[in-house]
Order: sequence, then C-alpha cells, then structure tokens
Amino acid sequence: MRSFVARQRERLLLSVTGYVYEHGWDEERVRLRGLELALDAGTREHLLRLGVRPGIRCLEIGAGGGAIACWLAEQVAPDGIVVATDLETDFLELRAAEYPTLQVLRHDLTAEDLPGDFDLIHARYVVEWLPNKLLALRRMVAALRPGGVLLDEEPDWVTIFETPESSALRHVMIAAMRYLEATCPIDTRHGDRVRPGARRLHPGDRRHARSCGGAVA
Ligand SMILES: C[S@@+](CC[C@H](N)C(=O)[O-])C[C@H]1O[C@@H](n2cnc3c(N)ncnc32)[C@H](O)[C@@H]1O
Repeated sequence: MRSFVARQRERLLLSVTGYVYEHGWDEERVRLRGLELALDAGTREHLLRLGVRPGIRCLEIGAGGGAIACWLAEQVAPDGIVVATDLETDFLELRAAEYPTLQVLRHDLTAEDLPGDFDLIHARYVVEWLPNKLLALRRMVAALRPGGVLLDEEPDWVTIFETPESSALRHVMIAAMRYLEATCPIDTRHGDRVRPGARRLHPGDRRHARSCGGAVA
C-alpha cells in the first residue's frame, strides 16, 4: 500500500503538470506496455524514415516504460547517445543498465528547459496532457541542433467518439473523456491541432511541417 506522502506527492504533481495517471498505480507498467504494443511498430517506422542511425544524439521525452528509448539506444550504438526523460524514471532506470548508450534524466517538461543539441527528438502521447502545449513544443524545438528533427506523436481521440463499438461502450468512453477534459488540461483533439501550433513556432520551416499519419515531424 502506498504511503500517504507518496499519494500527496502525486496529487501535487498532477496539479502542476496536468498528467493524470498515478505512477504508483499497481497496473501503471502494464498500461504503458499496452501503449508500446499498440504503437511502437508505427513509431519505429517513422523514426527510421526520419534518419535514426548510428552515431546520432536522440532525446526521448516522457519515455514511460522505455521501449522506444531502448530501441533508439540500439539504433544509435556504438557512438551515439539517447537521453530518456520522464517525471518518474524508475521504469527507465531498470532498463538503462542494459544499454550503454542510454542516459536517464528526471525532467518535468512543464517546468524546465531541456538539454540541447539533439539530432532527433521524439515525444509520444505526452504534450496532449500538458497545461501549456506551445511552451512544451518551444522547449522541444529549442533542444534541436540546427537541421535536427522533431517527431511529436499526439492522438486525436475522435475515434473514440465515433467508434462503431457498442453504444454502451461508447457512452462510457465519452463520459471518461468528458471527465478528463473537466478535471485536467488534456486536449482530446490535440493530435489534430499540433501541426498548426508547430508551424506557428517556425513559419516556413519544413522541419516542423511534415505530416506522417497521426504524427508530425
Ligand atoms: C501516456 S504516457 C506515454 C509514455 C510513452 N511516451 C509511450 O508512448 O509509450 C505519458 C508519459 O509522459 C510522462 N509525462 C507526463 N507529464 C510529463 C512532464 N511534464 N514532463 C515529462 N514527462 C511527462 C508520464 O510520466 C508518462 O510516462
């Protein structure tokens, strides 16, 4: 059973960062693994297309369970580096020992600038939760070296609202979405809105205007 202090710390963190899932929840690692199983294949495809290769410097923001960070660490070896950040880094630290090219950084994207000079930066399903999404994008762009690439994958949860699943399931999902929207800064349409936001940062800069499916690079 988690301590009172741990629960209070998580509530305080939520009020500041916007993120709602409790890291101390018994099933959190399982939930993150579900995301990885559903999304990693597509993410890896995007990252390879965007030039992941040995020797480059990568930043994985809000790395969660760490599967993409570990995969990147293999791709950039032996001379590259991957820095994996998260609010809570224990899942990442467990895995980092196996990957000499992987560094773990406890970091809050809402509060602090990032380290810099990266060839490639990736975030997935992170910015949608944050109170100031443009500031988060700004911080990511500022951490790129000139010519570097940002891949920010954000969902548009519209599929939940329009799913052909049973109406009972749809009602439950819609109620859950509405509850989230009322209680935290999530934007359930962020995947659809991220591209114009990125363009506002660097008008005319193709680095942030290329669409690849649900993601923006
Ligand atoms: C929905 S999970 C996605 C995890 C991983 N990116 C993936 O797609 O498998 C969001 C992750 O972002 C992290 N996160 C949330 N707010 C953050 C912040 N302000 N700074 C850094 N990481 C954050 C969470 O701790 C969590 O690991």
